[in-house]
Amino acid sequence: MNKDIVCSGIRPTGNLHLGNYFGALRNFVKMQDEFQCFFFIADYHSLTTHPTPENLYNNARQILVEYLAAGLDPEKSTIYLQSDLPETIELYLFLNMNAYLGELERVTSFKDKVRQQPNNVNAGLLTYPTLMAADILIHKATKVPVGKDQEQHLEMTRTFAGRFNNMYKHEVFPLPQAYNFGNDLVKIPGLDGSGKMGKSEGEGNAIFLNDEPGVIRKKIMRAKTDSGPTEMNQTKPIEIENLFTLLKVVSSPETVEYFDDLYNRCQVRYGDLKKQLAEDMVNFTQPFRERIAELSSNEEYLKRIMDQGKEKAHESARRTIDEVRHVIGYRN
Ligand code: TYM
Repeated sequence: MNKDIVCSGIRPTGNLHLGNYFGALRNFVKMQDEFQCFFFIADYHSLTTHPTPENLYNNARQILVEYLAAGLDPEKSTIYLQSDLPETIELYLFLNMNAYLGELERVTSFKDKVRQQPNNVNAGLLTYPTLMAADILIHKATKVPVGKDQEQHLEMTRTFAGRFNNMYKHEVFPLPQAYNFGNDLVKIPGLDGSGKMGKSEGEGNAIFLNDEPGVIRKKIMRAKTDSGPTEMNQTKPIEIENLFTLLKVVSSPETVEYFDDLYNRCQVRYGDLKKQLAEDMVNFTQPFRERIAELSSNEEYLKRIMDQGKEKAHESARRTIDEVRHVIGYRN
């Protein structure tokens, strides 16, 4: 086994979409054969948007089901709930003591949230990157599978880790890197012609792993397009480029080439392209839907996985916290 430690998580804000899958989850599944992996459900992070207790638990449970449906294996990886690991919060506190207001205020995701939820700009939002750093550093992870939107958070994690090491003159933490199997970090576009597939980007923008075929078809047929190319080989506008990007992730290379060629000859019919994309999406997501349905009712199994993950994650986290407390000068 490779000695690199891998750690990553996803916020439980609803079902997982194809952005989550191609940016993160697909990598989790591939990495578990090669590395020592910790994959968690980021249910502390979701408190920044004040969910109800029912929503918090049900969403976390749903993510666990979808992790397993995608192929995460609890025998290979440690799969756990972030809130089952309070050591993370202790490390979060220590890291917050050396995180500065100016650098936290400059984080893009914070600035976005301030715009999106101006009536709830809480301290948890501001310190989101230190909590995320604590998640990663608690296991001394070196590789963090994430999508492109998390790049800046990883940069901050390295800043906090390096600062801690310098401050206490001990190499406690490695400097972790964002990771994707295909090298470049991925950004899956949405269906509304804007940049990114995401939950908060508005209804119909995201395709969820658990969407029914009829829903997938409807969403794709409504995806934004333009009135079609007018010149041979012209550059595609963003909304068309987005459709081609989606085609590339779920369809065969021949299909992509076929529509690309039609586009370049100004003969493309978006209705045909969308129909093909919808069918390929339905086929791609089919096994997920089946396994999600199967796993959803298996309460005892899910509970067992959560308990087992909690124990394994705790062992690793305890070692780090003991070392951190010692280095800071606390009694263990
Ligand atoms: P979250 O929950 O917003 O997204 C989870 C993962 O999905 C990726 N992702 C995408 N990738 C490509 N294209 C998209 N359209 C797309 N949308 C989402 C994200 O990059 C992410 O990898 N802060 C994290 C959760 C977190 C975490 C951590 C991650 C908390 N602690 C520690 C890694 C390590 C988040 O909100 O991701």
